[in-house]
Amino acid sequence: MTDYRTLESDARGRIDAAADLAALEALRIEYLGKQGSVSLLLKTLGAMSPAERQEKAPEIQHLRQTVADALAARKAAMEAAELETRLAAETLDLTLPAPEAPRGTVHPVSQVMDELAEIFADLGFAVATGPEIEDDWHNFTALNMPESHPARAMHDTFYFPEESGAQGRTTAQQGGRMLLRTHTSPVQVRTMLSQGAPVRIIAPGRVYRSDSDATHTPMFHQVEGLVIDKAIHLGHLKWTLETFLKAFFEREDIVLRLRPSYFPFTEPSVEVDVGFAIDGGRRVLGGSGDEPGHGWMELLGSGMVNRRVIEAAGLDPDAWQGFAFGVGVDRLAMLKYGMDDLRAFFDGDVRWLRHYGFSAFDQPTLSAGVGARA
Ligand code: DAH
Repeated sequence: MTDYRTLESDARGRIDAAADLAALEALRIEYLGKQGSVSLLLKTLGAMSPAERQEKAPEIQHLRQTVADALAARKAAMEAAELETRLAAETLDLTLPAPEAPRGTVHPVSQVMDELAEIFADLGFAVATGPEIEDDWHNFTALNMPESHPARAMHDTFYFPEESGAQGRTTAQQGGRMLLRTHTSPVQVRTMLSQGAPVRIIAPGRVYRSDSDATHTPMFHQVEGLVIDKAIHLGHLKWTLETFLKAFFEREDIVLRLRPSYFPFTEPSVEVDVGFAIDGGRRVLGGSGDEPGHGWMELLGSGMVNRRVIEAAGLDPDAWQGFAFGVGVDRLAMLKYGMDDLRAFFDGDVRWLRHYGFSAFDQPTLSAGVGARA
């Protein structure tokens, strides 16, 4: 009896003191395993006399049960404590503010292109595209700039290395020497060739010239406009540009001045100036450039499409005519949003992008304002 009591309190003490589940398991084996001390006690019952067995059996059974219960209780307590610690370590406070996620911005060039697409879509223009790696024929020849044309020299063209056999080929099929397009005007030719007439498109995109300073970068952006139909005239051109610029700059007092000019692909050609005023040392578009304190700023090139271009693009110049224009997208962005160094557009400096960039949610719409800022 005393032996059992001692064994029991000894076992309880050790079980309560067990440091971890492994130690507890070792104790279980020590007491209740096949060779465990309590198990061996149970085996002694068989050799006992019935009277002795009747007396000892309940005590040994009680001992076995007590040890088993103590082990189970201690095990449950340990597992609960372990879960507690894990839960405490894995705590997630859902009331904390969301972590600062890296946020990008829409580049002003992309924003302006979206604004242009929106404005011109409202006037019935589709967006057309052409390849940046262009051939000589589409970039120059078809635009009435044959090989010897002096205007070619003004384009500072990036040519690809000449491939054998490509020299001197200047038909639409052969294309000629490959180059990085110097303007978006070849899209005029490509669009007329691929979809015929009538045409009403804008073609925004990258163009390349070997030139670099504060207002020129080797890659920049232009948007081309082209309308080809039966009875299009210069009045349509002027109305379209005026409507576009008023919507783009979001002011009604935009005044245009058309000056005679020269481009090989238009005849007649006009250079379009826009009136500005000086406000706090800055040029602000609006009003006639002829008012005192005002001036004219050259903005874009345009004109009636030269019949030789219409012909090169596979259309009958006696049946079809129209106007075209080309304008720098980066320039438009600078005028509207106030940047003064074009080179910063393409530096990828995140501070500049954060300052001049737009929220992806700031979709230009005619109703909410094409230049709305979040
Ligand atoms: N392609 C000309 C340039 O890059 C711009 C231009 C002028 C485009 C007159 C036109 C136009 O469509 O009619 O300098």
